[in-house]
Amino acid sequence: MHAESGNEQGRPDDTALSFTLADEAATLALGAELAPLLMPGLAIFLEGDLGAGKTTLVRGLLRALGYQGKVRSPTYTLVELYAIFGLNFYHFDFFRFEEPEEYLYAGLDEYFQGDGVCLVEWPDQAGAYLPSADLRIRLSVVGAGRGAEILAASPRGLACLKCLTNLPAASPGATSSGQPQPR
Ligand SMILES: Nc1ncnc2c1ncn2[C@@H]1O[C@H](COP(=O)(O)OP(=O)(O)OP(=O)(O)O)[C@@H](O)[C@H]1O
Ligand SMILES: [Mg+2]
Repeated sequence: MHAESGNEQGRPDDTALSFTLADEAATLALGAELAPLLMPGLAIFLEGDLGAGKTTLVRGLLRALGYQGKVRSPTYTLVELYAIFGLNFYHFDFFRFEEPEEYLYAGLDEYFQGDGVCLVEWPDQAGAYLPSADLRIRLSVVGAGRGAEILAASPRGLACLKCLTNLPAASPGATSSGQPQPR
């Protein structure tokens, strides 16, 4: 995998990386690459339309950390908890919120104040109540595959992103199936 950095004007920019994800395996692989870079308290927003691959990316991330059970979409449960190596991972999905206040009514704020890693699908549905993200991952449907853009939204998020660029798998020329490809 070779990760390309840049912004919309085409200038070098170390706050964003873009990938082409040819198939589901590539989305799982991107999640797996992010897994070792996570630190306690990190908040990651997963943005993109229905079916863009948000849950798939979380599944790849958790599997890479050794979780072998099912990774279900939290669409109906609102949050799924995974305790791995003493660290809590909270996987949220706010798609079904009818108003942003539901975030407050559900008492979700405390999840974002501890050491747990928060992975949030449909963050916009919680409006301004949601604390800010460290990383924002935007997924989009591109033909039969997906596009992914990872944006650093805090100094901690930027530290993660820089590690992602430095991973051995990020070297140019790695083209095997299931790997995220540059865009
Ligand atoms: N890179 C990819 N190329 C093609 N299909 C993919 C890719 N990544 C994931 N998919 C497929 O897209 C479908 C939807 O994935 P997923 O459930 O992860 O989407 P989602 O963004 O979580 O959707 P929702 O908003 O409904 O929760 C799945 O069938 C998954 O296998
Ligand atoms: Mg989902």
